[in-house]
Amino acid sequence: MGKVYVFDHPLIQHKLSYIRDINTGTKEFRELVDEVATLMAFEITRDLQTEEIEIQTPVTKTKTKVLSGKKMAIVPILRAGLGMVDGMLKLIPAAKVAHIGLYRDPETLQPVEYYAKFPADIEEREFIIVDPMLATGGSAIEAMNSLKKRGAKNIRFMCLIAAPEGVKAIQEAHPEIDIYIAALDEKLNDHGYIVPGLGDAGDRLFGTK
Ligand code: URA
Repeated sequence: MGKVYVFDHPLIQHKLSYIRDINTGTKEFRELVDEVATLMAFEITRDLQTEEIEIQTPVTKTKTKVLSGKKMAIVPILRAGLGMVDGMLKLIPAAKVAHIGLYRDPETLQPVEYYAKFPADIEEREFIIVDPMLATGGSAIEAMNSLKKRGAKNIRFMCLIAAPEGVKAIQEAHPEIDIYIAALDEKLNDHGYIVPGLGDAGDRLFGTK
């Protein structure tokens, strides 16, 4: 079963409190999401592989470590996932950025892919799907299906706030995928919002209604 990691670093929790606050305006909300994405990128990359190389410092030769593992790709789910990309790229600047756009079919209520663009070397990359909110899990699961269908072998999912319903849905649909979150909230309400949550992440990021 995929693991669920809660990044309870004090800086992440502090900034998340202001992200949740209704009195935080668009500019500050965007900046805070960007900062938390950077901090989460630091945590999620803890287990990257390294290899030893020999270098020459101004003083002596020495053995040091550099990254050696799979190349990474960030996959924002449009549109709210876009708010987390730049923050992550600050720490993983060589990562490719794939995109997945999904809409909810009004009749079936199922997510349908309307846009998808991935790097060519999809089988070799390590993918991190990002979306600030994991609510029912429908979009995240569809994004995972989409990546797997095209040959992706290494996928993780990262969000700011998750509902238990969404975590369970991913674990059932994609039991091997690890989930990285800043907070696990109480539940979904009747309108599909996470409680206590932060409202609509896309609207708060982009200043729309
Ligand atoms: N998407 C959001 O933006 N907010 C929620 O609470 C749930 C889904």
